[in-house]
Amino acid sequence: MAQKIGIGMLGAGNVGGGVINALPTLRDRYLDLTANELQLIKVLVRDINKERIGLDSSQLTSEIDEVISDERVQIVIEVLGNEQPACNYIKRCLEAGKYVVTANKEVMAKHGAELLEIAHENSVAIFFEASVGGGIPIIGPLMRDFGANKITSVTAIINGTTNFILTKMSEETISFDKALFEAQELGYAEPDPSSDIEGVDAAYKLAILCSLAFGFDVDPYLIDRQGIVTIAEQDFRYAHDLGYTIKLLSTARLIDDKFSVSVKPTLIDLNKPLAKVDGVLNAIQIEGDLIDQVMFVGPGAGPQPTASAVLADVLELVRNHLDRDAYPIDHSPLKPIAVQSKSDLQSCYYLRLIVKDQLGVLAEIAKTLGDHGVSIASMIQSGEFSVGDAVELVLTTHLAYESEILSAIEYVKKINAVQEVGNIFPIDGVEEI
Ligand code: NAP
Ligand code: HSE
Repeated sequence: MAQKIGIGMLGAGNVGGGVINALPTLRDRYLDLTANELQLIKVLVRDINKERIGLDSSQLTSEIDEVISDERVQIVIEVLGNEQPACNYIKRCLEAGKYVVTANKEVMAKHGAELLEIAHENSVAIFFEASVGGGIPIIGPLMRDFGANKITSVTAIINGTTNFILTKMSEETISFDKALFEAQELGYAEPDPSSDIEGVDAAYKLAILCSLAFGFDVDPYLIDRQGIVTIAEQDFRYAHDLGYTIKLLSTARLIDDKFSVSVKPTLIDLNKPLAKVDGVLNAIQIEGDLIDQVMFVGPGAGPQPTASAVLADVLELVRNHLDRDAYPIDHSPLKPIAVQSKSDLQSCYYLRLIVKDQLGVLAEIAKTLGDHGVSIASMIQSGEFSVGDAVELVLTTHLAYESEILSAIEYVKKINAVQEVGNIFPIDGVEEI
């Protein structure tokens, strides 16, 4: 018998607007296929007086209770953003027996296990495909398609805003601020864009991927994280001269039961597929014992790709969950995990310094690095970006432990001729150096 399936939405901003735009086409197609009708019942916003394309004012509310207490609403789409009140609203929806679809990576990274448990107890489900990688299907594949693998690594570009900014800075002469403004205008950035540019958004997403790929409970705030704000135009110039580009790379590796996880600007060989993932594209590369390596690439942010992921979850709920007698989605508790210390992690590094152009300075830097176990692989000296009698010095190192490089840098800073230590970035793919 034909059914009406009631949808409530929390939020009608960038992503919510994308969902509202795409919903009529999906509704018509679904109606043709099944005779069931998807109906948007209520939409929670802060300002009910703002004009909203595709909605009439009777659908808008600023009271969460109007969504939760409406018995017609079976599925709630949460696209409010931020931790609170979104997390509490999701809990209340699940406790009221509503299925939830969320795009909120902060809530899922911090409270995902608890929310899955609440959904389980209430015989409903929470789906979160849009929380990582925008339009790329990755949560579903990790939950289902890679289930037979022991996953050993996740290497990803999972923030569209920063990848857009870095690509613009790399290819055009455009300032960081202008590139960020463009990303905001295009609806890629978080409500507070510092979450994007400081790498926090990527850390939330990486924590979610770790919970699915490894079953580990990773605190996003314990992820070794560095944002993109210090990257300068000349870093791209030097990186290119050395055969690399710079990406905000999120990595998680499990090698011999040792687990490492980080979000950092990283030099990537220009010939590698990840180096060619530009603009708002994201990429997620999974390595497992059976699959070897699989890479997913696609638009990582923006209203339309995110609406695609949100509505895929809605369809999955409607097709495979709502019509059956309510049954809980299987979920397993996450395992606590100790993250490896910096003294265990090895990489080659890129260093940019500003030094006085005087006799002996290079030898002193090389000796100081060498005394701490760091040996130089290559060097570029340039006066182009420097002032007065100072020049810029760019070094790459052979493999070094992160703790070694950090302590060596403390001593390099004490050398009289060293005016400034600029950026220190790892170089991806140590085995090829
Ligand atoms: P946004 O443009 O700032 O929209 C937020 C919406 O939520 C607005 O409609 C706002 O109402 C409403 N809202 C916020 N706080 C509220 C409150 N306390 N009570 C009632 N309504 C409230 O944010 P967005 O870019 O759409 O992002 C939404 C979520 O999607 C975030 O979790 C984000 O991380 C996630 N996400 C975003 C993207 C992307 O490409 N942007 C991609 C994937 C996931 P008003 O309109 O009245 O202000
Ligand atoms: N602000 C996020 C990004 C949205 O730029 O990747 C997608 O999650």
